[in-house]
Amino acid sequence: MSRNAAQTHARLRAQEMEQNLVSHAEDNAGTRRDFLYYATAGAGAVVAGAAIWPLVNQMNPSADVQALSSIRVDVGGVETGTQISVKFLGKPVFIRRRREEEIAEARAVDVSKLPDPIARNANIPGEVPATDENRAMDEAGEWLVQWGVCTHLGCVPLGDGAGDFDGWFCPCHGSHYDSSGRIRKGPAPENLPVPLAEFVDDTTIQLG
Ligand code: FES
Repeated sequence: MSRNAAQTHARLRAQEMEQNLVSHAEDNAGTRRDFLYYATAGAGAVVAGAAIWPLVNQMNPSADVQALSSIRVDVGGVETGTQISVKFLGKPVFIRRRREEEIAEARAVDVSKLPDPIARNANIPGEVPATDENRAMDEAGEWLVQWGVCTHLGCVPLGDGAGDFDGWFCPCHGSHYDSSGRIRKGPAPENLPVPLAEFVDDTTIQLG
């Protein structure tokens, strides 16, 4: 090979190597771009997954909501002649341990003269008469459990023998309920309803 030919060959070889270097650099740049793209897409998938999960989760009743559909109340400390108010399903429930006089007064009432002759007791199917026996929890009538929401417009009545009939009185528009929670006077159309309730042991009432 002549000297000139050798110099030409060396120049061509150098150009070829330079082109290869540029080509590899572009390949690497492409690879980086691809990596960045996939990394971004992957992160997007994770974020989307995180956003969807709470929505899916909200479709199932949460544990606290399930628990609230039934609660147990310890009534061991409730003295005769007093009541407690507990919150159940977002509303107050009155649990009263009645005195003998309250029970006797409630049972002496002529049901046919009541504004609302229906017991409104969720524990007894159908529309049974509003006798005190059909509203109290136990045969002796010691325990009375009822929603603490006036059937007129939803105020919470005052208890502990309030009103003209020794039961509950709603001061919003003047509704009087007797010692069995039955409406006796005022604009409320119905007796205070009795929720699903049962004794699960001597001192525990389950609501719901
Ligand atoms: S809300 Fe009770 S009397 Fe009107």
